Amino acid sequence: MALLEVHDLEVCYGVIRALHGISFEVNQGEIVTLIGANGAGKTTTMQSVVGLIPKKSGVVTFDGADITKTPCHKIVHLGMTQVPEGRRIFQELSVYENLLMGAYSMKKDQADFKQDIEMVYERFPRLAERKNQIAGTLSGGEQQMLAIGRALMSHPKLLMLDEPSMGLSPLLVDEVFKIIKDINKDGTTILLVEQNAGKSLAISDRAYVLENGKIVLSGTGSELASSEMVRKAYLGG
Ligand SMILES: Nc1ncnc2c1ncn2[C@@H]1O[C@H](COP(=O)(O)OP(=O)(O)O)[C@@H](O)[C@H]1O
Ligand SMILES: [Mg+2]
Repeated sequence: MALLEVHDLEVCYGVIRALHGISFEVNQGEIVTLIGANGAGKTTTMQSVVGLIPKKSGVVTFDGADITKTPCHKIVHLGMTQVPEGRRIFQELSVYENLLMGAYSMKKDQADFKQDIEMVYERFPRLAERKNQIAGTLSGGEQQMLAIGRALMSHPKLLMLDEPSMGLSPLLVDEVFKIIKDINKDGTTILLVEQNAGKSLAISDRAYVLENGKIVLSGTGSELASSEMVRKAYLGG
C-alpha cells in the first residue's frame, strides 16, 4: 500500500475547475515529483491534499487512513508536513523562533524541542550561525532552508515541498536539491512539485507531468527525463 494515495481528485475555484480528477501515489521511501508549468495546478494539488483547499471530489489516503475530509491541523499530526510555495516563514521572528513554531503545532515538551532544533542546526549549519537573526533579513536560500528546517521539526513521514528552487541562484538550487536528497536518504518520503524539471527528475524515483489540471504522463525519473515530450516541453530541447 502506498504512503499517500490520491484518487480522482477534483478541485474547483468557483466555476473554474483547476484539477480534473488526478490520481497519483507516493510509496514509502520514494521521492516523487509532480512537474508542471506555471498554472498547471501543482500548488492546488498540494494545498488540497493537506486540507487547505476543499476537494470537490476524490479520495486521499495517507498511511492507511482516509484523510479526504480531515482538517489541515490534524493532517500534520498524522505525519504530513508541507513547505509552501514562497516559503512563508515568519519574517519578524528570529530563526530560532521560526523553528519553535514548527514544533509548536506538535505540542511537544521542551526537551524534545531542544533535540529537534539541534537536529535542524546539524543539517543546516548556516541556520545555527544565524539563530538569532531576524528571518526576514536572511537571503532567499537561507529562508528556503529555514522553511525546510521548520517543517522537519514535526518529524514528517511525508515532506511535501512546493517549488523549493523558485527564485534561487543556480548554485543554491543545487544545494537545495542535495538537501532534499539527503533528507530522503535519512528516511523521509518526499513529494515535490517543481517547474525545474531537469533538477527534480534527476533526484526523483518517479514523477508525474501535470498539464492544465490533468496528469498526462508518468514514469521513473529517468524515463521522463529522456521522454521526447518532457524534453521538448520542459527541458528546452
Ligand atoms: N485562489 C484561486 N482562485 C481562483 N483560481 C485559482 C486560485 N488559485 C489558483 N487558481 C487557478 O488554478 C489553476 C492552477 O493554479 P496553481 O495550482 O497555483 O498552479 P501552479 O502551482 O502549478 O502554478 C490556475 O489556472 C490558477 O489561475
Ligand atoms: Mg504553484
